[in-house]
Amino acid sequence: MATLAQELTETVSRAFAAEGLDPAHGRVAASDRPDLAQFQVNGAMAAAKAAKSNPKAIAEKIVARLKDDPRIAKLEIAGPGFINISLTDETISKHIDKLRDDPRAGVPKRAKPQTVIIDFGGPNIAKTMHVGHLRSLIIGDALQKLFRFVGDKVISDVHFGDWGLQMGQLITEVQREQPALPYFDASFTGPYPNQSPVTMEDLEEIYPRASAATKADPARLDEARKATAELQAGRPGYRALWQHFRAVSFEGVRREFAALGVHFDWWKGESDVDKLVAPMVADLMKRGIGVESEGALVVFIAEPGDKKELPPLIVQKSDGAALYETTDLATIIDRVKTADPDLILYVVGQPQHDHFEKVFRGARKAGLNGKAVLEHAGFGTVNGPDGKPFRTRAGGTVKLFDLIAQAKDEALKRLTEAGLAQDYPAAEREEIARKTGLAAIKYADLSNQRLTNYVFDLARFTKFEGETGPYLQYAAVRIQSLLRKAEDQGFKPGPIRIEDAAERDLVLLLDRLPDAIETAIAKRAPNVLSDHAFTIAQGFSRFYAAHHILSETNEVLRGSRLAVCRLVLTQFAVVLGLLGIEIPERM
Ligand code: ARG
Repeated sequence: MATLAQELTETVSRAFAAEGLDPAHGRVAASDRPDLAQFQVNGAMAAAKAAKSNPKAIAEKIVARLKDDPRIAKLEIAGPGFINISLTDETISKHIDKLRDDPRAGVPKRAKPQTVIIDFGGPNIAKTMHVGHLRSLIIGDALQKLFRFVGDKVISDVHFGDWGLQMGQLITEVQREQPALPYFDASFTGPYPNQSPVTMEDLEEIYPRASAATKADPARLDEARKATAELQAGRPGYRALWQHFRAVSFEGVRREFAALGVHFDWWKGESDVDKLVAPMVADLMKRGIGVESEGALVVFIAEPGDKKELPPLIVQKSDGAALYETTDLATIIDRVKTADPDLILYVVGQPQHDHFEKVFRGARKAGLNGKAVLEHAGFGTVNGPDGKPFRTRAGGTVKLFDLIAQAKDEALKRLTEAGLAQDYPAAEREEIARKTGLAAIKYADLSNQRLTNYVFDLARFTKFEGETGPYLQYAAVRIQSLLRKAEDQGFKPGPIRIEDAAERDLVLLLDRLPDAIETAIAKRAPNVLSDHAFTIAQGFSRFYAAHHILSETNEVLRGSRLAVCRLVLTQFAVVLGLLGIEIPERM
């Protein structure tokens, strides 16, 4: 359903067209000054510029064409030619009443759905996910939900980091520690053991050791390189061992995704495109897009006008091994072949921006991307109170799992402080704390602009006042409980009839959701949606303070107010759902 702003845009655009002006100037938006008007049109200025005439005169002509519209209660020209419009309460009531039973809160689906692949998460073998993965997971998940909600076909791909030098580092380190294992015996003919020789905990310790050793000792590095190349060439023992690394790491990652409530459609990894690499390189060379440079095969991707110099994209190192950029390029081929997407969106930290720029340019230069737009949606870092990347007290990286557990503990404390959920069964209280803890982390993350850094402050995020996830959950829970009580008393929602400013303002805010969703998608900016949620919560609390609901004896008024409450709840359910935040039954 069209919003009021969209309906008005149609009318005002026609008025511009009737004056021989570009109808695009007739765009109507919510007013910047809600104290003066509900809506505004700024197009008279641009129209006047184009027509070399006076904005005020144009605004007057438009206003003359609108003045008999029965929907409009107040029409004014402000400043140099802004047109302010307010609607009659009847118009607004009738409009909003149509949303009463719409579970989508008035948000339409796209006329032309797109296929979108969203690449996020990106965990790596042998490394437990840490706070650095948090933003990718939370933002990526919100984006996949948003695109899906408007009807796009979305494929989320975790793009597991399971290839490259790290694998050789792990293999050679395990070999040093357990040389008798059959994986290292080139003459062994199998079968290899089913049981992994290492656990996730082992891997987590082995990897930093291996990484340090190869940094310190060129011979060790050489060994790791050789093992990597042999693994990639298919040496059976290495493959078998690597499969164990993969399986063990997958399990850990699954557990963490489940804890965060994040879902992936594809569990592909860098290694999945291994077989595409050699033909891709051969094809690039054949077409002259790839060239030899210092023993490596590269694609030059620098463009005139580049502000900084981008080194060439390396598709094959001099030792024949594939690099991170090689697998990313081959992954584009795989994705285009499998899903023919309109868009591939990479939700990965901003430090990898150049990496993606190189890969995208290479892909476009070689025509590997089909019809897909390739786009990097980067994000800033999560910092500690010192403004540096968030660390444990001991200086280590903070594990995602620990973070989630801490958030739950903190949420439990806050619930007690606020006197919430106190006499509930312990299991339910725990469950509520789990939900509010997650809401705290997710909302804090999503409410920041994607590219800004923010300071991780659980004490602030878990508060029940202010712009937090728990505050929004609590607002929704209160409405739920109010509606339950109404139902118990046999009170029913009825037609919405706007009575006063608090109600009018709230209803007009509710009508902005479709716009908020469109902007959030267009800018890949979930913070637009989290802002909207907070605005609604504030509008609702003003409305709630101004009106009796259950104690209202006039049935018509009570019915109307209950209907507004229900609309707000539906909108919370939609918006919080898109942000990955669950609403507890009660608190
Ligand atoms: N595994 C990578 C890392 O930890 C992130 C992967 C992002 N996605 C991609 N297609 N490169 O940095």
